[in-house]
Amino acid sequence: MSNLTFPILQLLADGQFHSGEALAQQFKVTRATVWNAIKHAETLGITIFSVRGRGYKLPQAIDFLDKNLVLSAIGEQRKWFNLIILDEVASTNTYLMQQKNVAHATCVAAHIQTKGKGRRGRTWVSQLGASLTFSLVWRFQCGAAALSGLSLAVGVALMRTLASLGINQAQLKWPNDILVEGKKLAGILIELQGDLDGPSTAVIGVGINLNMPKTVIEAIDQPTTDLSTVSDHTINQNVLLGTLLKHLAEVLSRFEQFGFVGLRDEWVNYHAYHQQPVRMLLPNGTEVLGVVKNVADDGILLVETSLGLQRFSAGEISLRAVNAGASV
Ligand code: BTN
Repeated sequence: MSNLTFPILQLLADGQFHSGEALAQQFKVTRATVWNAIKHAETLGITIFSVRGRGYKLPQAIDFLDKNLVLSAIGEQRKWFNLIILDEVASTNTYLMQQKNVAHATCVAAHIQTKGKGRRGRTWVSQLGASLTFSLVWRFQCGAAALSGLSLAVGVALMRTLASLGINQAQLKWPNDILVEGKKLAGILIELQGDLDGPSTAVIGVGINLNMPKTVIEAIDQPTTDLSTVSDHTINQNVLLGTLLKHLAEVLSRFEQFGFVGLRDEWVNYHAYHQQPVRMLLPNGTEVLGVVKNVADDGILLVETSLGLQRFSAGEISLRAVNAGASV
């Protein structure tokens, strides 16, 4: 690990060439030290062009996470949050799950996750400046049993955020994928600690694709999109994170008061498959066909099947549109 890697990347974030000599002078180190820092960046999957006589350059300009910009985008509720920005971490969820006595409303955002986790044991692919990855700790008086609708509630906060930033075509796919035109834009992974009857702590992890290289998008095993594709204007990731934290504060407070039921109508409005025919893939490999009718107060999906109205819980099934090929 080189301590210089991220300070150098911050300079390269402008997308321009910076000579090894200028970088060495700036940080009062040798050119070999700069070269080592660049090599370390490459081990993190960061592409850096190195051209003799010109220096080093990122393929394109990127936004860096900036605590002050995030806090100012949160607005009044900024006092609620303890915001930490890490350069490099395996997974922001894992990091927070492993910390002891983390304060309520601690948010850890990372420039790079090296082992990002998705739902159902999948990997979450992200890249420097190309993805927003963060986790938020929220403590509840109730137990984990009462939090079954929480991941759907978080989806509502994401949808409100996207709408406030001009992305109106996003939809939710039960339980909590964010889709645009059937392609995944963002995902939510919630991990819980505590007793079934409380109190409990949720680590709410969110990944949003910002501006992913085409080759990376194509290598993901499900249809995927990013904000730069679906938005007609550039969205700064600090503004995105701050706006989302503001909406999370509102949504999570409502959830604490009323449970998921206080957000259900809004959630259903956003659901891509409401009243639509779907295929449900069960863990034993079998498939059930049905029509989505609603979600219950606890976030369970209610589907009309040949056996009548059936209830499906999130860990249990994978939901697909009838006729859809690849899974989203
Ligand atoms: C999904 O599979 O849809 C959930 C993806 C969740 C990814 C985020 S990125 C930040 C946080 N840290 C992780 O390791 N995963 C979540």
